[in-house]
Amino acid sequence: MKIAFAGKGGTGKTTLAGAMITLLARHRKVLAVDADPNSNLANVLGIPNGSAIKPIVEMRDLIYDRMEIKPDITPGPVPGSFYKLNPRIDDIPEKFMRKRNNVNLIVMGTVDAGGSGCVCPESTFLRELLKHLVLNEKEDIVMDMEAGIEHLGRSTAGSMDCLVIVVEPTLTSIETAGRIKRLAQDLKMNTRFIGNKIKTKQDEDFIIKKLGEGTILGTVSFYQDMNRIDKGGSIMDLPHDAGILLEVDKILKSLTKMESSDEQKKVTG
Ligand SMILES: Nc1ncnc2c1ncn2[C@@H]1O[C@H](COP(=O)(O)OP(=O)(O)OP(=O)(O)O)[C@@H](O)[C@H]1O
Ligand SMILES: [Mg+2]
Repeated sequence: MKIAFAGKGGTGKTTLAGAMITLLARHRKVLAVDADPNSNLANVLGIPNGSAIKPIVEMRDLIYDRMEIKPDITPGPVPGSFYKLNPRIDDIPEKFMRKRNNVNLIVMGTVDAGGSGCVCPESTFLRELLKHLVLNEKEDIVMDMEAGIEHLGRSTAGSMDCLVIVVEPTLTSIETAGRIKRLAQDLKMNTRFIGNKIKTKQDEDFIIKKLGEGTILGTVSFYQDMNRIDKGGSIMDLPHDAGILLEVDKILKSLTKMESSDEQKKVTG
């Protein structure tokens, strides 16, 4: 399964992506993709030295190099020859990944402070990589995106099976979620919402009323002790019965069910 997390800033994309990666990695191999130029997925997963991971875009240069292709004279965003390689997770060179148990983390890259502020080449390469990466039945991809809609504008997440949009019980987060959903629909992507930081039944009702019941994968409560993660703790080190993991596990089960019924529909036409 290829799952991407989107949503307004601070709603909990990285936290919930981290929880989902933790759960999947108990039984499967997960490629965790940090596509936020201000990346911190490594911290949340307790992967040391995350900022030292070589951004994935540099892999493009390596591929160009190996194939003796000169990017400036070869037309097209990424030479077509790369697609024919049918790359697998294991083909990604070690230096572009950090591993922890079953998790392989790659990062898209940060915006150069002195540069144009554009991450277009990075996005293009990541989009092509995600599109052509071949998964076996025991592998998943979970991508944590930056806040807002830029990634969708560049359709970085276009090849993902499901776009999970994280919302808080606030009007602005719900409005952003609506915009993200509309853009994702233009890309013909499956979208679902997760309500996060739910403190009361009213919070939950508010989200359901605004977004419609059928579109919500599930909700996650507000956990006071999540600030431990901000101070250097890691979701992968939480006990198996931590509330947030139990709630995200329920969401993961609904997502898996949804995916397999979509697959079924495709098979039976
Ligand atoms: N269920 C929760 N309960 C309590 N706090 C939470 C919960 N989910 C996330 N948080 C906290 O909310 C803050 C923002 O979370 P996170 O960094 O995951 O959001 P984000 O959407 O990835 O933000 P950004 O847009 O900056 O990347 C963090 O302090 C995190 O610990
Ligand atoms: Mg984040």
